[in-house]
Amino acid sequence: MTKITAAITGVQGYVPEKVMTNFDLEKIIDTTDEWITTRTGIKERHILENGATSDMGAAAVQQLLEKKGIDPMEIDLVICGTVTPDHPFPSTANIISDKTGMKNAWSFDVNAACSGFLYALTTGSQFIETGKYKKVIVIGADKMSSIIDYEDRATCVIFGDGGGAVLLEPNIEGLGVIDSILHSDGSGRKYLVQPAGGSLNPPTHETVEKRMHYVHQEGQAVFKFAVTNMADVSAAIMEKNNLSSDDVNWLVPHQANLRIIDATANRMGLSKEKVMINIQKYGNTTAGTLPLCLWDWEKQLKKGDNIILSAFGGGFTWGAIYLKWAYNS
Ligand code: UT7
Repeated sequence: MTKITAAITGVQGYVPEKVMTNFDLEKIIDTTDEWITTRTGIKERHILENGATSDMGAAAVQQLLEKKGIDPMEIDLVICGTVTPDHPFPSTANIISDKTGMKNAWSFDVNAACSGFLYALTTGSQFIETGKYKKVIVIGADKMSSIIDYEDRATCVIFGDGGGAVLLEPNIEGLGVIDSILHSDGSGRKYLVQPAGGSLNPPTHETVEKRMHYVHQEGQAVFKFAVTNMADVSAAIMEKNNLSSDDVNWLVPHQANLRIIDATANRMGLSKEKVMINIQKYGNTTAGTLPLCLWDWEKQLKKGDNIILSAFGGGFTWGAIYLKWAYNS
């Protein structure tokens, strides 16, 4: 029997209009454009003023389906990676499906922080590979500004809002998702967490006063884990699939810090031209970074290109996907 793989057959990103530059941040916290640029590579990020994560996801999906000429009723399954759902429940994927008319689809969210898109893409691929599902939408989107403390200068400068969506369809030419290596280690929660709002610390006046509904990050500790694990897992997936650095056409790295991206690319032996970097204009959009990269680079991607996606984030969660690009645009 011919093996079915899950190919990305379309991608669309969305970022809100409002731009917050490093110079804007200089006006509200004790920081400088120079510090942010040299420590992170970020120059500006987009901020969603009105609306929720589902609005960004729905905008991306709607444009994706329009450009592919696909009726929303044809979609079988919708998976959304996010840590900033509109509500604890129902899931943001349910809401995006409603807003875009994907009424025949069942849908759910994946909570894997910055690895959300990797986890969701791996999950979606499995459904296509069974042969039962023909059209799966995978979204990664986050409104990080809704959980960021703009008094915490070490954390607020790195995050932004945005996201994107891909369409997965069956392929029998050996294109699409070939392999993935995913990890998690919940003991990392002490370094990167939104402490309140869940069942451990439900919302009270006290949790609000103590600013516990915001992201708490021990930046240096997370950096150390990220830089090692993202590089290791990216090298591991190359080795497992007998890929040399010459074989890899593109690295699509999570955009949290340019220094982490550089370390990963170096470890893989890749030159800068093969690395997608848009952190300077979007910052860290958590589950949104990988689809935003694919969207920005879509026109340069060629059928058969070997692409490695890799990420590290809260949980801790991390991993890498090896895929072969399925179309020329
Ligand atoms: O995507 C999810 C996973 N997250 C990540 O991968 C993030 C990983 N971590 C990082 O990218 C970095 O740790 C940060 C960019 C968040 C912070 O950079 P850092 O080089 O680790 O800075 P630091 O927290 O160690 O602080 C170094 C110094 C401190 O001053 P002193 O104590 O040396 O005088 C901070 O107070 O920089 C100071 N500082 C700032 N100065 C100006 C921290 N934030 C700022 C700021 N502007 N925004």
